[in-house]
Amino acid sequence: MIQHAPWFEESRFGMFVHWGLYALPARHEWVMNREETTVEEYSKYFRRFDPDLYDPNEWARAARRAGMKYVVLTTKHHDGFCLWDSALTDYKATNTPVGRDLIAPYVDALRAEGLKVGFYHSLIDWHHPDFTIDGVHPQRNATDVEVLNAGRDMARYREYLHGQVRELLSNYGTIDYLFFDFSYAETGHAEFWGGKGAKDWDSETLLALVRELQPGIVVNDRLGIPGDFVTPEQYQPAGPMMVDGAPVSWEACQTLNGSWGYDRDNLNYKSVDLLIRMLVDGVSKGGNLLLNVGPTGRGSIDPRALASLEGIGAWMQLHSRSIYGAGTSQFTAPADTRYTQRGDRLYVHLFAWPFEYVHLPDLAGKVEYAQLLNDASEVFLQEVDPGQQAMNMTPGGQPAGTLTIKLPVQRPDVAVPVLELFLKPEDVND
Ligand code: GLC
Repeated sequence: MIQHAPWFEESRFGMFVHWGLYALPARHEWVMNREETTVEEYSKYFRRFDPDLYDPNEWARAARRAGMKYVVLTTKHHDGFCLWDSALTDYKATNTPVGRDLIAPYVDALRAEGLKVGFYHSLIDWHHPDFTIDGVHPQRNATDVEVLNAGRDMARYREYLHGQVRELLSNYGTIDYLFFDFSYAETGHAEFWGGKGAKDWDSETLLALVRELQPGIVVNDRLGIPGDFVTPEQYQPAGPMMVDGAPVSWEACQTLNGSWGYDRDNLNYKSVDLLIRMLVDGVSKGGNLLLNVGPTGRGSIDPRALASLEGIGAWMQLHSRSIYGAGTSQFTAPADTRYTQRGDRLYVHLFAWPFEYVHLPDLAGKVEYAQLLNDASEVFLQEVDPGQQAMNMTPGGQPAGTLTIKLPVQRPDVAVPVLELFLKPEDVND
């Protein structure tokens, strides 16, 4: 648990928003890198950025209705374009056709919906003239990289980076969350011209600045030095995340279709069922889910993404009790199930619907009452004598200590059915 910000793990579910100039090419937020586009070529998107349908109130409503408790928006992505009216650059929304600061209304909209306010901020900057060309820069394959790098000065870029973070954390009231992205000093990315990491960003000083300006904020782990939580990306951890053998706070970031930025022709959408199972799976391992949407160049969340959010919201409306404030269980879940627990409530998420009986090891005698969560309908507890042999019409006993619950034949018509078990207080571990 992050002591100074318990809201973070209680929330369990947030919305990531990747939005910037790359919404216009609409083929992944790394388009500048993938297509090795120069700053000059890329500027055609700057000249056309005019999101006339941008309404952050709608984003905030969609997030709240999906059951999300916080939202994290890209203030600047790797392409260097800034959504706010930074005094330190001209490469900002105010100088595009939209002509205004897009961060201020976003912050207001979240607060109006009771959501926590998060910023994503790219450490990488493919636009800044002092940011040296490295192994992941769009110009990495240029014939004259040494020439292009002559005169670039990372010390000046660092000043810019720190200055912009100062602006973002000074001018918009309380900011609850900050996601820096990312450090790559020691990865394969660095092949040709090297990578960048904590030294390049002066991460110690930057993190100290963040904490000074926003003492309550939670910060991720991508500065190349430890933060408040770790950030598995596009995979589900096998169990609780550990650092040096100790469990840590974590948040998985996931996409709807494999791309973060709006990607028009990408149809690789995860189903609503799968997204809900991913959320549940993460909470059962003590983690949060930050689920991404990539609004269009006109500023709206497209219908496919909205449908996913609505589907999750329908499930959350009935089941959020098994998510908010819940985490790993003291008990071990059997196959095809995930447990989450909050105090004396144990939630059994049934990823597969068995025929009439579900067998839960080690719970015999420990449950006072049980119900289906979607409609609070009672389900019966059975403890079959472990010595009983299976006969023509009677099931055999399960291993000693097993609690058997009798389910209706008809699976409730929800994405993931959940049993709510009320544990006997004396059996609850703190
Ligand atoms: C990455 C990518 C990226 C995305 C992010 C989300 O490291 O560079 O485009 O913003 O992770 O976690």
